[in-house]
Amino acid sequence: MDAHPGTQELLDIARSIALEAGALAKRRRDEGVEVAASKSSPEDVVTFADQEAEALIRRRLAERRPQDGFFGEESGAERGSSGLTWVVDPIDGTVNFLYGIPQWAISIAVVEGEPDPTTWRAIAGCVYAPASEEVFTAGAGAGAFLGDVPLRASASTDLSQALVATGFSYSAERRGKQAAVVSELITRVRDIRRVGSAALDLCYVGAGRLDGYYEQGLNPWDMAAGALVAAEAGARVTGWDGAPASRGFLLAAAPGVAGGLEDLLREQFPLMGELA
Ligand code: IPD
Ligand code: CA
Ligand code: CA
Repeated sequence: MDAHPGTQELLDIARSIALEAGALAKRRRDEGVEVAASKSSPEDVVTFADQEAEALIRRRLAERRPQDGFFGEESGAERGSSGLTWVVDPIDGTVNFLYGIPQWAISIAVVEGEPDPTTWRAIAGCVYAPASEEVFTAGAGAGAFLGDVPLRASASTDLSQALVATGFSYSAERRGKQAAVVSELITRVRDIRRVGSAALDLCYVGAGRLDGYYEQGLNPWDMAAGALVAAEAGARVTGWDGAPASRGFLLAAAPGVAGGLEDLLREQFPLMGELA
C-alpha cells in the first residue's frame, strides 16, 4: 500500500512527542511513582505520571495538529475535522512502571477514520520505551524501524519452537480463563512470555524477539502503534479468521507460525470465549 501523503511528517510528530513524554515519565519514575487511582479493578491502576504524560501529549498535539482528533486512555476523546485521530496510551505497561520493571512504553499513533481498530487505517505510530531508550516506529507502506534499523518479523515456521507472548485482563474472572488457555498452550510451544506491555509485545513481534503474541480485551490505544510496527515488519496481525484485530481478539505473529497459532488458539476457544 502506498504511504499516506504526509506520513513522514506525522511520524516525526509522533516520535518527537513520544520522546518528550517518555523523558517526563522517566523523570517521574526516578523520583518515585505514586498511584493516583484505580480504574476497572483494584489491580488496574493509574499513576500521576500516566495522567501528566497524557496531558503533555495532548497539549503538544493540539499545538501541532489542531485539526486532528484525539483519543487517549486517560483523558478521553475529542473529534477533529481532518479525518485523522491520534490514539494515545501515555504509559503502556503501568504495572511494570510502578514496580520499576523496564518494559513500559509511550504509544502514539495516528489513524484515518473512526478510532476503532476494526475500521481505521493506521498511518503512523511510535512506541518509545524510555528505560531501554528503544524507539520503534512505523509508517503505513513505509516499513517499521527500531531507531533507524529496519525491522523484520521472525522467519520461524515451527510452532513447537515458537516463543509466544500474551497478556491478562485486569478482571480476576477473565484472568482465570486466560491462564487456563496458557496452561495448554505452554505444552505446545517453546515457551510463553508475559511482557506486561501490549505495545512492546507487538513491537517485539516486529523485531523478531517474539514469534507470536495474542491477547483478548485490548483497547484501541494498546494496539494502535504496535500493530502497525508488527504489520509493517511483515508479521500477520489479525483477529479471528482474517477479520481485523479488535478488542475481541488480536493475534500478531510471524507469517510462518500465524496460521498454526490461530488454529491452536481456536481449539481453546471454548475456554477463551467471545469478548465483545
Ligand atoms: C495493559 C498492558 C498489558 C496488557 C493489558 C493492558 P496498561 O495496558 O498493555 O500488557 O496485558 O491488556 O491493559 O494498563 O499498562 O496501559
Ligand atoms: Ca495499555
Ligand atoms: Ca496505559
